[in-house]
Amino acid sequence: MNNTPKVIWFIGLSGAGKSHLSDLLAQALKAKTLKVARVDGDLRRKSTQNSDFSRAGRVNNNLQIIDEISELTEFDFVIVSTISPYEESRQKARKCLDNYFEIYVSTPIEVCEQRDPKGLYRLARSGQIKNFTGIDDPFETPLDSDMTLSTDGVAPESCISEILKQLQERNWFN
Ligand code: ADX
Repeated sequence: MNNTPKVIWFIGLSGAGKSHLSDLLAQALKAKTLKVARVDGDLRRKSTQNSDFSRAGRVNNNLQIIDEISELTEFDFVIVSTISPYEESRQKARKCLDNYFEIYVSTPIEVCEQRDPKGLYRLARSGQIKNFTGIDDPFETPLDSDMTLSTDGVAPESCISEILKQLQERNWFN
């Protein structure tokens, strides 16, 4: 019988802190001897050389990830981090995945832009990158996230404690 992994999907702006929280959460779950897979939007786009950030391109990118997750049956958890700016993509994930927990990393754009870890906001502001989420492409307000948290002025470790508490309340681990 196939195992269905539990999916924790971080969404939010570039620079919001999704990847860092995902890494820490993966470590915390692995420390409980759980099998954890990671799907990171940025890394995946590099490895697949996919630079289509049109609406259709992003929707398709998110759909491909949903498909990939269904192959990851040997894992207890799959932790995804993508911008997923459109509500239609998130609703699709919720509908298609049996165990779906969405965490909206709601760090304000001013903070993400100030962090600008990859220098992309600067490029977007100067028009060298088009369709950049939050600048000239929308991030639709999430309607159904299971949890919302900002990393602005909050230690990542305390975000992880909150997340683990919520997962435990769902009986997603002992
Ligand atoms: S999504 O919109 O399709 O969910 P995804 O998470 O895969 O996005 O990729 C986002 C990453 O691609 C960002 O973290 C950023 O580093 C990079 N990127 C490059 N161009 C853009 C753009 N126009 N908009 C957003 N992110 C971009």
